[in-house]
Amino acid sequence: MVTTQNKCKSIVVKFGGSVITDKTKSYTIKHDVLDRLAKITKEYLEEGGKIAIVHGGGSFGHHEVKRIEEEKGVLESSDAPQIQYSMLLLALEVSKTLLKHGIPAVLHPPHTLCDKPTVKDCRMSPIIRDYAQSLVPVTYGDAIPYDDKIYIISGDDLAAALVSILSTDCLVYVIDEPGVMTSEGKILETLTSLKNLELREDNKIDVTGGLRKKLETALELSHHYRGTIIITNPDGFEKILKGQDIKSVGTVIRATRSED
Ligand SMILES: Nc1ncnc2c1ncn2[C@@H]1O[C@H](COP(=O)(O)OP(=O)(O)OP(=O)(O)O)[C@@H](O)[C@H]1O
Ligand SMILES: [Mg+2]
Repeated sequence: MVTTQNKCKSIVVKFGGSVITDKTKSYTIKHDVLDRLAKITKEYLEEGGKIAIVHGGGSFGHHEVKRIEEEKGVLESSDAPQIQYSMLLLALEVSKTLLKHGIPAVLHPPHTLCDKPTVKDCRMSPIIRDYAQSLVPVTYGDAIPYDDKIYIISGDDLAAALVSILSTDCLVYVIDEPGVMTSEGKILETLTSLKNLELREDNKIDVTGGLRKKLETALELSHHYRGTIIITNPDGFEKILKGQDIKSVGTVIRATRSED
């Protein structure tokens, strides 16, 4: 059983595109990382944990959006199928790996759930249905055609919405860094505000705002979500699944009262 001390008996995890793909190379999956994430998730399920999985666009969706933008200068609703297809390719690989490890993963493409490109306009009932039956719902950042344009619904936002909908104890963002790094290269134990926080500039493509937008979303969520929000890497995720003290496994996101 997941021990009573484990703060995270139920989790929404977002597997960042930065960790499951190589964001510097189009259409490149890090199969070894994906395998490891699946293996530790399976062990957690066997111990009685509950989980829903969201994944990012990585070098699939983000790169496809960039490619079309550079080619045409503009994104139109007629471009949605290409972006959706690129994300389905990644989602199917994620599902394939999860199933291979014995995880009852069920794929929920957002373009079939979301009427508009905002999470409140996504019908989450099929995800709730599966989660209630101890299946593992899998969803991801996707392209939503709306009003003759294309909007990207981000995996970060979907994950933030799902913690409240599924009432999970924890939200874990897994990225390719052990947490939020300060400019001196130290891992921040707790992030309470973005004021005075200098993030490293990087050249990885991220059409949904990268780490800063993720942190904004998480800080905003922390005003009303009573569970734990944490950013970490696969090592930290494994420690969380095994019930180790969350203080030492990444960056906990908790907004200060003054921002309420
Ligand atoms: N100060 C920092 N601390 C940690 N990571 C940082 C920092 N500054 C920039 N980064 C970058 O932020 C990235 C994580 O955010 P990003 O949104 O790019 O990835 P992701 O969410 O995993 O990908 P996707 O959007 O495809 O799911 C890391 O790959 C890291 O290189
Ligand atoms: Mg991102």
